[in-house]
Amino acid sequence: MAAVREAIPRAEADPDRPVYHFRPPANWTNDPNGTLYCRGWHHLFYQLNPFAARIGSQHWGHARSRDLVNWEHLPIAIWPSTDRGETAIFSGGATMAADGRPRVFYTSIGRPQPEQWMAAPADDDLFVWEKYSKPVLTQSAHIGGAIAQWRDPFLFQKDGATHMVCGGGTSAGRAQVQLYRATRPDLTEWKHLGAIFQTLDREIRNFECPNLFPLDGKWVLIVSPNRVCEYWIGDLDIARVQFSPTAHGVLDPGDAYASNISADEKGRTILWLWGRTNTPPERGWGSVMTMPRILSIGPDGYLRQRPAPEFETLRGEPKAFPGRSLEQPFVAAGAETDCAEIEAEFSGGGRSGFELRRSSDGKPGVVVSIERGYLSVGAARAFVGPAERYRLRVFLDKRCVEAYANDGTAAVYNWFDAGKDDRSIAVFGQAAGSRGGPAPNRAAPPRLEGLKIWPMRDARFSLDHFHV
Ligand code: FRU
Repeated sequence: MAAVREAIPRAEADPDRPVYHFRPPANWTNDPNGTLYCRGWHHLFYQLNPFAARIGSQHWGHARSRDLVNWEHLPIAIWPSTDRGETAIFSGGATMAADGRPRVFYTSIGRPQPEQWMAAPADDDLFVWEKYSKPVLTQSAHIGGAIAQWRDPFLFQKDGATHMVCGGGTSAGRAQVQLYRATRPDLTEWKHLGAIFQTLDREIRNFECPNLFPLDGKWVLIVSPNRVCEYWIGDLDIARVQFSPTAHGVLDPGDAYASNISADEKGRTILWLWGRTNTPPERGWGSVMTMPRILSIGPDGYLRQRPAPEFETLRGEPKAFPGRSLEQPFVAAGAETDCAEIEAEFSGGGRSGFELRRSSDGKPGVVVSIERGYLSVGAARAFVGPAERYRLRVFLDKRCVEAYANDGTAAVYNWFDAGKDDRSIAVFGQAAGSRGGPAPNRAAPPRLEGLKIWPMRDARFSLDHFHV
């Protein structure tokens, strides 16, 4: 706690630190952990290195929010029991136990094999967490021998029982997701049921942070395979230890990783992701969480991801720009900013989009564009599919950007570099085939159907409970 406090002034002095993406009080975060909705609060635990703004010395930081936007930082929830040889608290998940109180599960590192451990709240506010006296799962539980890179428990309910999946791979280096069932209502004992999923891709040696959860009548599996996260949608048969996928996609082709899931009182399924930022450690902070995204399955059977609508509360006075043909790029006059929500609609094919955080000599910080059914955010490209019109929602937060196309058909988080005075937004369009094609045969340029830009206010991050 002292190490985090000490870094706060440096983190707060950095004008590049995002203002409405979740971040710890200071220093490093990576995966979201134990995401849970309980008695009116969204709880977010997260991988935290309290000692530096780079990865290492994993603890579980903790925060809570009533609205997914404004946060109260809480005391560090779980730290390594160094006296017992534990060196790091790796990622994990949360669930409600039969006594109506939550439990969190995490991977304990340091003794020489990873172990899965549980902690329970010691108070009604869920500020203080106590580890159970021994691991709830060790490698000895595995039917067919040890699992390599065995970690990241995630919990779900099915057929009246609590289940867990963990990531890892076989000793031969094939990524798998293992399935377990709790055999006691207090969740202290578990049985290994087998591998519920295995990759066919020999390049993927282990899966990190698997999530398996119900959504709109189907089951969704998300994995983090040391490259962009992928998902499968299908049917789950626990008795046969079988997950049969019917759809497969990339979750977010940008720099977002290590997902977690929660479900709130409105019945919404919420996706949490670590958003990398590439911040130099001397700045006193590193990484954010992407905006919590509401998940659903679209009529085409693929995932939809929409930013939580609660973020609309941060909107300032909008600037609206009427529709026009995009023969020439134009700069959105009077909308200079490094923090905004942008809503726009494009039609007419070709390539169209925005340059964000553009410098006075016309150099963009990042380009967000739609072309041939793909949404691009910097170097990341997500499939949206052919459409007459493309509706974009783009969230700019300093040097982080998140873009959503056509009601969450594609979602991309990315980071980029920009100078502090680079604040203008340009809108551009290029007709299909216009790059190098002969002028007389050119198609008409794309059209901007409408554009609205809201400056975004800072979310509140309270430190009132950030003490022991
Ligand atoms: C994913 C991951 C997890 C692990 C954690 C450690 O980013 O590698 O597999 O539990 O980070 O911080």
